[in-house]
Amino acid sequence: MERTLAIVKPDAVAKGFIGEIIKRYETNGLGIVGMKMLRLTREEAEGFYYVHRERPFFKSLVDFMSSCPVVVLALEGDGAIKKNRDLMGATDPSKAAKDTIRNLFGTNIERNAVHGSDSKDSAAFEIAYFFNRLEMIR
Ligand code: RTP
Ligand code: MG
Repeated sequence: MERTLAIVKPDAVAKGFIGEIIKRYETNGLGIVGMKMLRLTREEAEGFYYVHRERPFFKSLVDFMSSCPVVVLALEGDGAIKKNRDLMGATDPSKAAKDTIRNLFGTNIERNAVHGSDSKDSAAFEIAYFFNRLEMIR
């Protein structure tokens, strides 16, 4: 079993896609072991996306991620990190494969509906960023 972190981003929350997105995790072997809704401060969004601090889109990304509430989930399943990346689709929704979450619910390359950890190291960092031991069911 492996764990990964997912975020339903502000665009998808605002459009009312929380349920549709969570259903896709649950029906594809990704069980929810932690979940909460919160509004990130600028500082919290900057800390989460620290690896991207030198990228040209960093400020815009931080503005977006702190603009509205998000839903953060710790997901567990066999090969959870890759499974979630496959379910999400490519970063740019217009290039994401048919029926992926970003293809179905994303708006553009920034407002792309969901986040997913991209490696074991990032999953460990990102889960610990949002959840302490008592906030997960196991
Ligand atoms: P994520 O980390 O959110 O799961 O997305 P990702 O791995 O597919 O893409 P990444 O390269 O890590 O980029 C993080 C997020 O930054 C925004 N972005 N904007 N304007 C742009 O060119 C651009 N490129 C990336 C997206 O919100 C992307 O998910
Ligand atoms: Mg990424």
